[in-house]
Amino acid sequence: MSIISYIRTIADYPKKGVLFRDISTLFLDPRGLRKAIDGLVMRYSGAGIDKIAVIEARGFLVGAPLAYTLGCGLVLIRKKGKLPGSTIGEDYALEYGTDRIEMHDDTIVAGEKILLVDDLLATGGSALAAIRLIEKNGAEVYETAFLVDLPDLGGSKKLKASGYSVFTLCEFE
Ligand code: PRP
Ligand code: HPA
Repeated sequence: MSIISYIRTIADYPKKGVLFRDISTLFLDPRGLRKAIDGLVMRYSGAGIDKIAVIEARGFLVGAPLAYTLGCGLVLIRKKGKLPGSTIGEDYALEYGTDRIEMHDDTIVAGEKILLVDDLLATGGSALAAIRLIEKNGAEVYETAFLVDLPDLGGSKKLKASGYSVFTLCEFE
C-alpha cells in the first residue's frame, strides 16, 4: 500500500470547507509507520546529516525515529514558551492564524548540516520560520522533508523559490 492510503481525510476540520489530511491513521498502523520512516531513512542514510530539526508537535513523531535510525541529534523547535533554556524565536503565519516558534540558542552550531523534518507542508509558514531559526545560528539547511505535501497551499513552491530542496513522500491535490 502507498503512504497516501494510510492517511485519512476529514472534511470540515478545523473549519468548514477544509479537507484535513489526518496522519494519525498512518501512525496507528505499524505498516504505515514503517513505510514512512523507511522512506526517509533510505533517502538520508549516508548523507552526512549532523542534526535533524523538528517542528512541534507532529513533526516530533517523524523526526525522532529518523534521528534514532540515522544516528544524529534531534533539535526541538517548539511553540512559544515551552523550552526552559535561552531561546531564539520567529513569528510566522499559519493556514489557520499566527504563531511563534522557538529553539534553544545553543542547539545548532555554525557549519552544521541540518535536515528539517515535519509531518506536513501546507503554506510553508512553519518551515520557513524554522529555516530562519536554523540559519540564524549559521547552519546549513541540507533539505526539508515531509510525509505529506498539500501543493495547492503553495508551501513547496515557496520553499523551492527561496532556494530550498523539498522532499515529500506523498501529496494531496
Ligand atoms: C501543522 C503541521 C505543520 C504545519 C504546516 O502543525 O504539523 O507543522 O501545520 O502548515 P504550514 O505549512 O502552513 O506552516 P500545527 O501548527 O497545526 O501544529 P501541531 O503539529 O502541533 O498540530
Ligand atoms: N492536515 C494536517 N495538518 C494540516 C493540514 C491538513 O490538512 N493543513 C495544515 N496543517
